Amino acid sequence: MLVFRSGVSIPAALMAAAPRLRLLIRAGSGLDNIDLDFLRQRGLELVRIPGPGARAVAELAFGLMLALSRQILQADSLLRRGRWAKHELTGHLLNGKRLGIVGVGNIGSLVGRMGVAWGMEAVGCVEHPSAERAAAFRDQGIRLTGFREVLETADYLCICVPLKETTRFMIGRRELARMKPGAFIVNTARGGVVDEAALSEALRQGKLAGAALDVHQQEGENCISPLADLANVVLTPHIGAMTVDSQREIGRKILEIIDNFAGSGRAAG
Ligand code: MLT
Repeated sequence: MLVFRSGVSIPAALMAAAPRLRLLIRAGSGLDNIDLDFLRQRGLELVRIPGPGARAVAELAFGLMLALSRQILQADSLLRRGRWAKHELTGHLLNGKRLGIVGVGNIGSLVGRMGVAWGMEAVGCVEHPSAERAAAFRDQGIRLTGFREVLETADYLCICVPLKETTRFMIGRRELARMKPGAFIVNTARGGVVDEAALSEALRQGKLAGAALDVHQQEGENCISPLADLANVVLTPHIGAMTVDSQREIGRKILEIIDNFAGSGRAAG
């Protein structure tokens, strides 16, 4: 049995080196760090625990939107140096603005509902839209539309898609150029979804008002983001799911899965 999170890599060679391996538990959501083809070939069982972290990631995404719109980090840093920048630090309301969600899944739908509660107009897109899904989101106050409309009309664009071949660099130079001038972008999904070099350019040219990234193309100790010198950027070290509450719940679910597996030889059910 192998329990893993993000920040590690689970290649075929690692799984092949464990001939008695039968069960893998992903203590969270993303599957971008494991060789899924090998897993299927070997018939290994994989259980994800996406629920508990979703609310924590959604809350962080919302916190980042607030930090950007009210320049909270700049205000804090100036005040600590004795600067009373009250008249420079004008911000924007979230209320009345359009929240665009790229990927209305577990996390994206929570972000959308939070936005609606704050008086935002929530629009989002999914990879496989259907009338049923559109109706379900409508009930939550989120209007399902195409990627293009979400991208081009959002005041706040939240990236909530998993990293896979179809989403790698889905927000690149061309997409950033299509965004509404003065929009903000928040990425709590995966670093490889947004092209950081293109984002850096868009921010330096003043095309976008700001960006917040919890996930990065290069993550780990001593990795400095290419956006680190920009004042209108907020950077956090992949802490989306890192609430005590979420991690405790994930731990509880891991024990439940292990108990099931020990009792029945299957993790699910
Ligand atoms: C996830 O995919 O669940 C999150 O990125 C949290 C993590 O595992 O670090």
